[in-house]
Amino acid sequence: MAPKRSSLRAIIMFTESAELYDLVYSSFKDYGAEAAQIATLLCTVHPGCKTVLDVACGTGEHARLLAANYGFAVDGLDLDPQFVQIARKKHPAGQFIQADMVDFQLPQRYDAIVCLFSSIGYLCTLDRVIRALRCFREHLAPDGVIIVEPWFAPGVLDPNRVSRNTGEAAGIKVERLNQIEINGPISRIRFDYVITDATGVRETSEIHELGLFTPEEMLQSFKAAGLDVQHDPKGLTGRGLYVARIAAYAARLLSGSARPPTNYR
Ligand SMILES: C[S@@+](CC[C@H](N)C(=O)[O-])C[C@H]1O[C@@H](n2cnc3c(N)ncnc32)[C@H](O)[C@@H]1O
Repeated sequence: MAPKRSSLRAIIMFTESAELYDLVYSSFKDYGAEAAQIATLLCTVHPGCKTVLDVACGTGEHARLLAANYGFAVDGLDLDPQFVQIARKKHPAGQFIQADMVDFQLPQRYDAIVCLFSSIGYLCTLDRVIRALRCFREHLAPDGVIIVEPWFAPGVLDPNRVSRNTGEAAGIKVERLNQIEINGPISRIRFDYVITDATGVRETSEIHELGLFTPEEMLQSFKAAGLDVQHDPKGLTGRGLYVARIAAYAARLLSGSARPPTNYR
């Protein structure tokens, strides 16, 4: 596949590739190892953690593994209705809904809210990031934790780098060419797919736009949303990780007037 630069409309979601998502990402991303790391982190920062909301859950792979291997009760939401359907099939015990992370309303509060694999970057502006974090806070139990795995900071991505992923299973082969353009605070990733199956070969493309935020901007955004946050620059996969609590509860923990969360399972 030759690298292309064209003015394809930004699709922002995996509209062309939802059913191929697991095939592509399982070829280089170790969801099992990540779920183990997340479970360990949750048990460390909130030993009583029982319920988890996976925001921007995609196909629900983390949700499935956190439930099956570590006993958490995991629900999820995603903007993409195709992903929500896949997640429901994959993890029927969870409640999965289609919703925008900047503005969702659920009847329940969770011990943990996770937003993984740079999904927060799709919000593109800090204003929308703050709105999402406020919404996360409103759905968090008073002693709960929020875990956000961000997209890259400005200056980290190489716009000249072209990469490829290939996934193959059950008679379907997907090759994906990935190219990044940087436009000020926005990164645009162009995905060009060649899909081969029993019906033949087809090609399709998507453009995804993600905001580039500095750690300082992210830390300020958590603060603006009423959250106390810690930043691990390395995180699960090298992209970093933010671990946050409701600020008022964090202050009470610090002063000793709140008891640390205990295991109530
Ligand atoms: C890179 S995928 C990550 C999916 C999943 N968390 C994973 O680790 O495989 C980004 C996800 O963010 C979702 N997304 C983008 N904008 C969203 C929004 N405003 N609200 C909810 N989900 C959103 C996309 O549909 C997609 O599932």
